[in-house]
Amino acid sequence: MLQIAIINGPNLNLLGKREPGVYGHESFDDFLAQLKKDFPQVAFTYFQSNIEGELVQAIQDHGFNKDGIILNPAAYTHTSVAIGDAVAAIQTPVIEVHISNVHAREDFRKISHVSAKAVGSIVGLGLNGYALATEWFVSKKS
Ligand code: DQA
Repeated sequence: MLQIAIINGPNLNLLGKREPGVYGHESFDDFLAQLKKDFPQVAFTYFQSNIEGELVQAIQDHGFNKDGIILNPAAYTHTSVAIGDAVAAIQTPVIEVHISNVHAREDFRKISHVSAKAVGSIVGLGLNGYALATEWFVSKKS
């Protein structure tokens, strides 16, 4: 079975309640339940943290034993050299996902410490970005 780890950064635990005009009305738990139904051939693990070091640890923990990591480092995307270094350090390919179109927002969101080390990035397509990233890993494996 294809093994995919989803790792979400700070404030993404509030999806559904948080700035719904930007991030939508759906909670990540509801979305994940649907994602699991849509991809029965994938074993997902899910980790969310508001703490930078815990995200680095999760990237390391999943970085040598999964087929893919879908990573939304949230605000740490724009600030964290440590998360960028962790993505560069591991073997598992990483797809960076952002729910909103970070390029259409404030200038500080245009900087990513992760993009150059990821296989690719999906931005601005809402929660669907996680499904599209999953599809890419599935197509690569088959
Ligand atoms: C985000 C975009 C980031 O700029 C922001 O800090 C987030 C969420 C997104 O998914 O659109 O928390 O990563």
